[in-house]
Amino acid sequence: MLELERVVFAWEDKPPVFKHLSLHIQAGEKVVILGANGCGKSTLLKLMNGLIFPQAGAIRYQGAALTKAALSERHFARRFRSECALLFQHPEAMLFNPTVREEIVYGPRQLGLADLEARLERWARPLGLWPQLDSPPFLLSGGEKQKVALAALLALEPKLLLLDEPSASLDPASVGWLIDTLLDAEMTVVAATHNLSLAAELGSRCLVLGEGGRLLYDGPVEAALADLALLEAAHLAHRHRHRHGGALHTHLHVHDWGSS
Ligand SMILES: Nc1ncnc2c1ncn2[C@@H]1O[C@H](COP(=O)(O)OP(=O)(O)O)[C@@H](O)[C@H]1O
Ligand SMILES: [Mg+2]
Repeated sequence: MLELERVVFAWEDKPPVFKHLSLHIQAGEKVVILGANGCGKSTLLKLMNGLIFPQAGAIRYQGAALTKAALSERHFARRFRSECALLFQHPEAMLFNPTVREEIVYGPRQLGLADLEARLERWARPLGLWPQLDSPPFLLSGGEKQKVALAALLALEPKLLLLDEPSASLDPASVGWLIDTLLDAEMTVVAATHNLSLAAELGSRCLVLGEGGRLLYDGPVEAALADLALLEAAHLAHRHRHRHGGALHTHLHVHDWGSS
């Protein structure tokens, strides 16, 4: 469904975030991207969503090159934008409609879909947004805004859903609902997180990014989460110092300090 071939990407004059990153995502896979702050998770999702483009290497969506030129072609852009949706880490930027209702049906309406009410019911209700349908999104709390942004993306019923730290401001019940919903759906999902429990529940495959955007691991989630040396190398586990008797011991811990 999505292929990255030796992708090189740097933000302006900064050192490259990725040097020759290659990976393939198959249709229907639920992939989690794990990595510490600043390792490139959000950058990778933006590349996958065709918002930024590699300086070298290639990205292909269902065999078609995902380039600036391809996305300036109306037909391809329309198809890609309806099939591939990204939930930003800070979704406030995504909200611009006068009401929650308008926000959620905006995408489907742009695509000329007829079943707007059914989509609203299907995605706004389970997220608890029903009482707020007529509210302006800017008056909602951070977590509620993230739910609106999520409902607006799900209402598109995309083939490829990219999630950037979805558990950062959603409450546990909404994260649970989201995981169940995504696991039941045929949708291909790529979710960046540093929440190890979310990774364990959602993903079957996990990519671990280390320093310098290096792909440290690509394989089953369970094996990654059991590999303390890998988690430590990716700064996802922490070596504590304990004083025991007179001696100083170090002890490797995996924490799940909640969301972000
Ligand atoms: N819009 C941007 N402009 C310049 N540099 C950026 C931008 N976004 C991210 N970066 C840099 O790219 C690197 C990777 O960031 P990011 O992809 O946001 O990491 P993560 O999501 O894993 O925390 C960081 O060094 C960050 O400072
Ligand atoms: Mg990020």
